[in-house]
Amino acid sequence: MNNKNSRPEIISKELNIAEYDVIFLGFPIWWYVAPTIINTFLESYDFSNKTVVLFATSGGSGFGKTAAELKGSVSPETKIVEGKLLNGNYSTEEIEKWVNSLNL
Ligand SMILES: Cc1cc2nc3c(=O)[nH]c(=O)nc-3n(C[C@H](O)[C@H](O)[C@H](O)COP(=O)(O)O)c2cc1C
Repeated sequence: MNNKNSRPEIISKELNIAEYDVIFLGFPIWWYVAPTIINTFLESYDFSNKTVVLFATSGGSGFGKTAAELKGSVSPETKIVEGKLLNGNYSTEEIEKWVNSLNL
């Protein structure tokens, strides 16, 4: 996708977000931020009083303004945690250690 302003639709909206307190949200970094369909996803549900932990892959960029760009797509009662860039190979142990370090 070359148009960073496009907002593709999400086909399925059947997730029951109410069942979850913490959501791990992963995506590739595109144009230094999350692909806009991630904004669409966040706008499709009520994430109030939830914690959304971001993780991403990239070609080398960091998170930059990714978290700030996503905050506009959730209510003020949503906690967005800038998680981790997961470029490369991580063992299950490393992932567990990271998740535990978040003290969720
Ligand atoms: C439209 C588009 C924009 C991208 N923009 C960035 C970017 O700004 N920074 C970056 O580090 N990587 C960028 N990438 C690379 C992706 O983040 C990378 O391909 C993705 O994390 C998946 O990794 P893989 O190609 O090794 O599977 C972009 C890729 C595409 C297709």
